[in-house]
Amino acid sequence: MSDMWDSVAPGWESNVEFVDEHLAAATDALLDAAGITEGDAVLELAAGPGGAGLRAAQRVGPKGSVVLSDDAPEMVAVAARRAIGHPRVSTAVFDQNAIIAEDGHFDAVISRHGLMFADDAVGAVREATRVLCPGGGFAAMTWGSRSMNPWLGLVLDAVGEQFGVPFPPPNIRGPFSLDDAALLTSVLEEGGLEDVHVQAVETPMHAASVQAWWERVPQLAGPLATALAAMEPDVREQIVQRAMNAGAQASHRDGSQIVFPGSVLIASGRAAQH
Ligand SMILES: C[S@@+](CC[C@H](N)C(=O)[O-])C[C@H]1O[C@@H](n2cnc3c(N)ncnc32)[C@H](O)[C@@H]1O
Repeated sequence: MSDMWDSVAPGWESNVEFVDEHLAAATDALLDAAGITEGDAVLELAAGPGGAGLRAAQRVGPKGSVVLSDDAPEMVAVAARRAIGHPRVSTAVFDQNAIIAEDGHFDAVISRHGLMFADDAVGAVREATRVLCPGGGFAAMTWGSRSMNPWLGLVLDAVGEQFGVPFPPPNIRGPFSLDDAALLTSVLEEGGLEDVHVQAVETPMHAASVQAWWERVPQLAGPLATALAAMEPDVREQIVQRAMNAGAQASHRDGSQIVFPGSVLIASGRAAQH
C-alpha cells in the first residue's frame, strides 16, 4: 500500500497548494474538533505532504510541536521539505496502526483523509488513543458519501463502468470507506475515545475547466492513478470521455471557474481523563 502512495507523492507535491486551499476551512474545523491550542504537542497521522499538521503548527506556536507521520517514505520526504524553516515540526515514517511514540505523549492526534485507508480503522484509533495524554483530543476527516463528492466519485464510476465492476473493488479500502457518520462514531468509540461527535463540512471543489479537473484528480487519487497507468491507451481514452461527460453535467459554472459539490465528515473524541 505504501508503494502505491509513494508513486503518487510527486503528484501530491505539485498539488499541495491546491489541496490545502480546497480543504482550508474544513482543516480549521478539524483542528478545532481536536481542541488544538497554543503550546500543544500534535501528531498528524497519514499526513502525506503534511498540510493539516503544518496548519496546526501555526496554532501551537513556538512552545508547541508537531510530528508529521505517514507510512509512505516519499510522502514523508515531501512533508519534510515543506517543514524546512519550522523548527518545531518534525517528520516520521510509521503506519497509523503501529505508532512509534510513548503512551500519553501527545495533546492531540489528527488525521486528514487517512483513517479510511487503515486495514483496521478501530486498531488505528486505539493506537491514537494510546499516545494521547488523559483528556487529549483526536479528530479525523474522511470524505462524505460518493454522491456528495462527484468530483471524485464520477472518476471512480467511469473506471468501474468501463469494466462492469465497482472501483475500487469492495475488498479494497478506498476514499469512501468511512463515509457514514454512524460508522465513524462506532469506529472512534470502539477505539477507546469518549465524547464522540461527527460533523459534516462542505468542501466544494473549483477547477479552471472540466479538462483541468480531469487532469488533477488522477494525480492525487492513489489507487486510481495506479489503475489508469496500467491500462491500454484506448481503454483509458474511453474512461476519460465518460468521466468528462459526467463531470460537465455534475459541475456548474462560477465566474471564470467550474465548481463541483464536495463534503467531508469530521469525527472527534477525547481520551479518558484518568
Ligand atoms: C489521501 S492521502 C491524504 C494526505 C494528507 N493527509 C492530506 O490530506 O493532504 C492519504 C495518505 O494516507 C497515507 N496512508 C495510507 N495508509 C496508511 C497507513 N496504514 N499508515 C500511515 N499512512 C497511511 C498515504 O501514504 C497517503 O499519504
